[in-house]
Amino acid sequence: ARSDIDHFSYQDTKYECQRRTPLNHHNKKFTEAFEILEKHASYIDREHGESRALAFRKASCALKSYPREITRIDEISKITHVGEHSLRVITDILENGYSEEVQDIISCEMFHVIELFTGIYGCGPSTAHKWYSLGHRTTQDIKDNAEILNLNVQQKYGVEFYDDLNAPVDMPDALRIQRLVVEQLDLIQPSCSAEIVGGFGRGKQCGHDIDILISHPEEDKVEGLLVKLVNRLTTLGCMLHTALSVGKNVVRKETFVKTKATQTRSTMDNLDRCFAIMKVEKSATDNDSCNSWIARRVDLIITPSSQYAFSLLGWIGSKQFNRSLRLYAWKEMKIHLNSHGMWDHKLTPPKRILATDEEEIFKALHLDFVERKDRNC
Ligand code: CTP
Ligand code: MN
Ligand code: MN
Ligand code: MN
Repeated sequence: ARSDIDHFSYQDTKYECQRRTPLNHHNKKFTEAFEILEKHASYIDREHGESRALAFRKASCALKSYPREITRIDEISKITHVGEHSLRVITDILENGYSEEVQDIISCEMFHVIELFTGIYGCGPSTAHKWYSLGHRTTQDIKDNAEILNLNVQQKYGVEFYDDLNAPVDMPDALRIQRLVVEQLDLIQPSCSAEIVGGFGRGKQCGHDIDILISHPEEDKVEGLLVKLVNRLTTLGCMLHTALSVGKNVVRKETFVKTKATQTRSTMDNLDRCFAIMKVEKSATDNDSCNSWIARRVDLIITPSSQYAFSLLGWIGSKQFNRSLRLYAWKEMKIHLNSHGMWDHKLTPPKRILATDEEEIFKALHLDFVERKDRNC
């Protein structure tokens, strides 16, 4: 298909990691429709939802990479990942200005309730469905029925701080939290680095949380660091809720055995991490309420220097970019890639490939380097 699409300078690739996907692109009216279809597929269609959602996401990613606004359907009819269903949606929008299928979803109550419930920290689509089927419609319903619904800790905080946690985080907020973390790290272990990763690392101006990747030039200096940091932040009264995961870093113990390398879609890693809800000072512009602070979701991740490049690549994201990168690495290169490192499985036993920065990882994978701002798929 690639040769048919040359004059638009669009790279029709099998994997998203082989092309650039900027944040600001030319086809928002289509990709916004696809995002709704994707959500709807994963929320409502329990049986084929995942694969349908993925198909819409891949179509959406293709349009995000497309270097200009699509005005005619034949422009894109041959693009990989824009399938029959997606073409129909694009055709509708081109012809009528909207997609009836999308309109139907938007006017469906269930969709909005599932959307509302999955916006609660700790609540995924299946829990949301359960609550919906029990007749609940608002976050107040969930709050009122916390006992009967047997809410877990995350969900309790999710409901309690629903408004705060659903108010977008902006860059000044992110910088304020980074500053706080750096100050505390300096007191515990000088010379640590604390980089803002996630969406902000890809150039987004706002996000749903703040992701901070922490490391130290000396390999062993991160040992035990997370607990000390979280304890300090707790003592300072900055932590409303913390969920720690410590000491499962299998690579550090040098007993890493790859088991299911084909299951590269999992984004979970074994780095020391803390998923927290933090109390953050309000910025000067937020003078609309009497509270002087706001609750924010913060992810703190610790990585030893030998794994830094891999953790950075993994935590910059986007999720879909990583998925495609890991799938590409395995399918095309027989390399197992995750946030800890990469292993060449063309050799027996598999050989670890080291890298000190992101560029080296792309090089080892025989890929053109994709800048962070172009990983917004
Ligand atoms: N990630 C991960 N392991 C997790 C959670 C997240 O590797 N257990 C990665 C994701 O793949 C993603 C990045 O960390 O690339 C940030 O995740 P997240 O905060 O969920 O998404 P963002 O891209 O930052 O989007 P947002 O602005 O909405 O926070
Ligand atoms: Mn959720
Ligand atoms: Mn994030
Ligand atoms: Mn996060």
